[in-house]
Amino acid sequence: MKPTTRRFLSLFRPHVGGLILSTVLLIIAANIPAAIVVLIKLVLDDVLIKQRHGALMAMPFAVAGLYALSAGVNIGRGLLTKSIAFRVVERLRGQLLHQYLRLGVAYHQVTPTGEQVSRLANDVNNVQYAVSGFATAIQKPITLLGLLVAAFVFNPLLAGVAVCVLPLVAIPIDRFGRRLRASTRDSLANMAHLSAMAQELMVGIRVVQAFGAEGRVKARFEELNHEQFRLQLRAAAAQLIPGPVVELIAAVGVGAAIYVGGRQVFAGVITPGELIAFLVALGFMNDPLKGLSLIVSLWQRSVAAGDEVFRILDMQPAVADEGSQKLEGGPCSLAFEGVSFDYGDGPVVHDLSFEVAAGQVVALVGPSGAGKTTLANLVPRFYDPTQGQILLNGEPLPAWSLASLRRSMALVTQETFLFNDTVGGNIAFGRPSASQADIEAAALAANAHAFIRELPKGYDTRIDELGMRLSGGQRQRICIARAVLADAPILVLDEATSALDSESEALVQQALDRLMQNRTVLVIAHRLSTIRRADRIVVLEDGRMVESGKHLELLELGGVYARLHARQA
Ligand SMILES: Nc1ncnc2c1ncn2[C@@H]1O[C@H](COP(=O)(O)OP(=O)(O)OP(=O)(O)O)[C@@H](O)[C@H]1O
Ligand SMILES: [Mg+2]
Repeated sequence: MKPTTRRFLSLFRPHVGGLILSTVLLIIAANIPAAIVVLIKLVLDDVLIKQRHGALMAMPFAVAGLYALSAGVNIGRGLLTKSIAFRVVERLRGQLLHQYLRLGVAYHQVTPTGEQVSRLANDVNNVQYAVSGFATAIQKPITLLGLLVAAFVFNPLLAGVAVCVLPLVAIPIDRFGRRLRASTRDSLANMAHLSAMAQELMVGIRVVQAFGAEGRVKARFEELNHEQFRLQLRAAAAQLIPGPVVELIAAVGVGAAIYVGGRQVFAGVITPGELIAFLVALGFMNDPLKGLSLIVSLWQRSVAAGDEVFRILDMQPAVADEGSQKLEGGPCSLAFEGVSFDYGDGPVVHDLSFEVAAGQVVALVGPSGAGKTTLANLVPRFYDPTQGQILLNGEPLPAWSLASLRRSMALVTQETFLFNDTVGGNIAFGRPSASQADIEAAALAANAHAFIRELPKGYDTRIDELGMRLSGGQRQRICIARAVLADAPILVLDEATSALDSESEALVQQALDRLMQNRTVLVIAHRLSTIRRADRIVVLEDGRMVESGKHLELLELGGVYARLHARQA
């Protein structure tokens, strides 16, 4: 068995009991019509001929009872099967989301968001088809086997003639099964691209509109959309075709049996009635045969979807969480020792060594693309250095448990990201247990309290209700309040580069100053005021430290920093 198939079967292992029960119910439901036939025979033979009135009275109840049983069994089986299917989907979706969180920033940077969402929605959903396959998987072959045995007992020669073509049905079932699997895989991949593109368009709607690019964007979207149509049609064909082809192959056998059987009738070996009965029995085999091909189809569709989900589930995160040390509060120091980093296409950070002593502010400055954000991303271990190491309180980062490490630091990123939650909820994101008073105190320190109070529902205003009403500076101050409330000993701050008007700028600067107090700070600084108050400035160029020192020292040096400063001023 292929490993993916085995893996796939393991998804259903907890539900073996349920699947067997569902199959038993299916068999019961399938036999109720036969029971009704038997009942009618009883009525005719026994009740009517012997004129037993009492028994006749009971017949309507018996028929109604059988149908009630049938209804109960069918509903029960349907719900049971669905609940197993949905449970598997639920569990798999949970695992996938957990894995996305575990893979973290490194995976997110190389996989479009819409694609991840599409896998979570569409791929996982497709896995449920296997369950319907399972639920009928056992019954069809059993029925088929029963019919075959009966046919051979009845007339071995005829049965042999009719059945000799049957092995051929394996060909279309297998061929179209593979094709279905491939086209399901392609259509899910295409759907992921389509979702990624749609998601990007929505996020970038202002840029799209501002550049009047709707037409161009729509044309690109329609290509993918049309490709989706094509792939789905192809998958549908691969699912539809094998059933009738199997029937056709079986018909060849039936045709041969008619010829051979006809000659047997001429020879007086069997009666015409016996031949007809035999052919009718052969006809009953069509349904389970087609059923077999359907099971294979459903199975292939599910496995195609499962393959991609398992591939993601098997990925290893870029950083391993194997450390066990826990931080116990108090001030923290950071040290970089010969740190180099490479995203995979050439080094971006080269052999950097410097320290941020407890309570110090170290500013990273340098031209765009110098590797500042990259370096900052190494501190919360979004990535690990390719060479060298970073020490926290003298211990290498991997020695600390990831949870403890990340709790010890607050991060303010270059982009101001707000969740679709209330303003208060956004501020309390790093400390959900915070009281309203704590939240307001943090907002006050971040110069955000005044404008938040003016919002329609104050701290309870939802971000989506505000739409685009928050200004850049206001968003920044909410993000700063979030970091203030997290109250971590280390602060990693990637100052936003977007220019603010001078009043807003002053408010943000004051908020940042308060945030940096009494913390160990690594700040990617663009503001002169932040740079001036830094205990040390590390100047990066092409990932290398080219200068380091205090503001005035560096100005006197007349090097890279002095030039950057002159250009800014
Ligand atoms: N996820 C990534 N994969 C590959 N290369 C990357 C990735 N992120 C950044 N880079 C590259 O690494 C280099 C440093 O980028 P980084 O974002 O660290 O610069 P920066 O100094 O923060 O610039 P800015 O001041 O513009 O924010 C750039 O050449 C960039 O193209
Ligand atoms: Mg940057």
